[in-house]
Amino acid sequence: MSTSLGLSPEVVRYLAQANPPEHPALARCREETSRLPMARMQISAEQGAFMQVLARMLNAKRAFEIGVFTGYSSTAVALTMKEIDASARLLACDISEEWTAKARDYWREAQVEDAIELVLAPAAETLDARIAAGEGGRYDLGFIDADKTGYDSYYERGLQLLRKGGVMLFDNVLWSGKVADPADTSADTSALRALAQKARADTRVHAAMTNIGDGLLICVKR
Ligand SMILES: C[S@@+](CC[C@H](N)C(=O)[O-])C[C@H]1O[C@@H](n2cnc3c(N)ncnc32)[C@H](O)[C@@H]1O
Repeated sequence: MSTSLGLSPEVVRYLAQANPPEHPALARCREETSRLPMARMQISAEQGAFMQVLARMLNAKRAFEIGVFTGYSSTAVALTMKEIDASARLLACDISEEWTAKARDYWREAQVEDAIELVLAPAAETLDARIAAGEGGRYDLGFIDADKTGYDSYYERGLQLLRKGGVMLFDNVLWSGKVADPADTSADTSALRALAQKARADTRVHAAMTNIGDGLLICVKR
């Protein structure tokens, strides 16, 4: 099971029982995904609970997600958005038919399939198409959890799609601690460091980096 960076199994168990119970579809998604070789890509249960409460705080009715995998984060957020408004919509971007087929199964069980539009294409193309279609300024929430070297392009496109006061979340910004190791100059690590510095100095957002999950950068559009 994915857990937040540096937490002991005891604290993870405590968090699980302190947070609201997971929807059965989320529990099944987490349990079945834990048996896949790429299981560590899944967000943690406590991060899902955080994203649900954030969606509620934003009264989110339109959201986008980059990086669906087997669907934990999209199912969690769509469940909350559908409670807020039956016509709420989540744009889900991924490139994997195989993984998102599993996500569809959990969306069906959670009865959020009608609230999620899956687009299988490189996410930058999908966001460009939405911007070109006049959807700029219409989104309440964005979650970015895919290729790290693409984060800067998602940041710029996401900022265009968000409304004022809307929030973008960037996952894995602590990268298992590798961002704090000056010897690590790999493309992914460097891209994450550059994004953190950019958001910190960017007058277009209010930004905070947190240690939720593998590090979550929270950017509020000014
Ligand atoms: C870390 S996983 C997402 C985990 C997911 N948010 C969850 O809650 O389990 C990353 C996903 O990004 C997708 N991906 C990678 N590159 C992409 C790209 N250029 N555009 C869209 N999706 C991409 C992968 O196929 C994979 O499913």
